Amino acid sequence: MDHSVRKSFYLKTFGCQMNVYDSERMTEALAREGYAETAELESADLVILNTCHIREKAAEKVYSDLGRIRDIKDARGRHGKNTVIAVAGCVAQAEGAEITARQPAVDLVIGPQSYHRLPELIKRIADERKSIVETEFPGDEKFAKLTARRRVSSPSAFLTVQEGCDKFCSFCVVPYTRGGEFSRPVAKIEAEARELVRAGAREIVLLGQNVNAYHGEGAGGRAASLADLIRHLAGIDGLERLRYMTSHPRDMSDDLIAAHAEIPQLMPFLHLPVQSGSDRILAAMNRKHTATEYIDVIGRVRAARPDIALSSDFIVGFPGETDQDAEATIDLIEKIGFAQAYSFKYSPRPGTPAAIRSLQIPEELKTERLLRLQAVLEGQQVAFNCRSIGGVVPVLFERQGRQAGEFVGRTPYLQLVHAAGAGDLVGSTANVAVTEARRMSLSGVIAAA
Ligand code: 5AD
Ligand code: SF4
Repeated sequence: MDHSVRKSFYLKTFGCQMNVYDSERMTEALAREGYAETAELESADLVILNTCHIREKAAEKVYSDLGRIRDIKDARGRHGKNTVIAVAGCVAQAEGAEITARQPAVDLVIGPQSYHRLPELIKRIADERKSIVETEFPGDEKFAKLTARRRVSSPSAFLTVQEGCDKFCSFCVVPYTRGGEFSRPVAKIEAEARELVRAGAREIVLLGQNVNAYHGEGAGGRAASLADLIRHLAGIDGLERLRYMTSHPRDMSDDLIAAHAEIPQLMPFLHLPVQSGSDRILAAMNRKHTATEYIDVIGRVRAARPDIALSSDFIVGFPGETDQDAEATIDLIEKIGFAQAYSFKYSPRPGTPAAIRSLQIPEELKTERLLRLQAVLEGQQVAFNCRSIGGVVPVLFERQGRQAGEFVGRTPYLQLVHAAGAGDLVGSTANVAVTEARRMSLSGVIAAA
């Protein structure tokens, strides 16, 4: 390899926090190989798209991006420069060899469980001059082989503790793209968490597709629950805040609920997707719980931590959804009261059971139901934020704001806060007196350090 010129890579990340985490780990691995990151596609020797398969027509969008990247590769080729194109993430896992068949300019298709092999595979492409498709599910090897040295770009860092899902909700691709549930051992997670704190993290968000089903190897080879893991990590000096996402209502165990009452570092925020408020639709979605059971879980969480901020995911227009079902979802929202939420129109994912159901809902009706649902959720979000006005909240500052002297951070309830401050506040927690509230953020003045 020619060491006189540093190679550069361009990495674009789509989708969820898990992909953000994976991209950070790939960046670290490539930096160790001497690659420098670039924001310019045209100057990159290696282009990686870390893709997401959740949204509609995700694969089609990737193919159209790849068409543009191929043009750049061709143009660079005319100047004697080689470009390696890699597709990573869930579209890579789902489409596999279909990608190189449809876009032969692609050199590497790499699934989420194979990122530790990225440097080696890139070398192989250079030597053998042929494309590689790597989409096996080798379990924990990825985490074991990725670098121990972590870099943090924000005081709030992601740490993947669990991957995959065994739930098979009938609309969801995750069990197919990320495979079955797999939990990392506590000791490995603790070592990584300590490394993140050493590198400057003050908050760690524990990630997993179904994170509250976590059951990693703990002390003495016994299985540890997510609550056990959180208790354990709360002992790390300098780690002020812990969060976790995303959870399933069925896995909201008593010890995890108790952890919300007992562990000060565990932030009072819970993202617990419900998807629908209609028992008929919940059954068709294979969610394995009823609306009443969800409301009951929330009741127990609130008994443990009365001020907890709640978040959820909703799907409107699932096949067979009637006006009555849609109203049942609105009812559930009104009964619970959410601080924030994500809502989506159902869109068929190839390979999932719901995609081939009859009674698919017309697009206009989905849009109508989505707008109605979002109006209710947005009202709740504004109301939740407005309740903060006049109060004082501890804010962990994550970055500088757009205006000079402005800093942006988060409350324990995950609300975004803008405040002016002297010196560099990034990485520190300060009390902020909240003066203004909008749907997406708060503003305030720093009350005391
Ligand atoms: N259609 C619409 N929304 C979906 N989600 C997952 N699959 C689909 C689909 N086929 C949503 C769910 C999930 C979130 C991450 O994405 O609400 O909780
Ligand atoms: Fe998908 Fe979540 Fe259902 Fe698992 S629990 S299948 S990740 S929606």
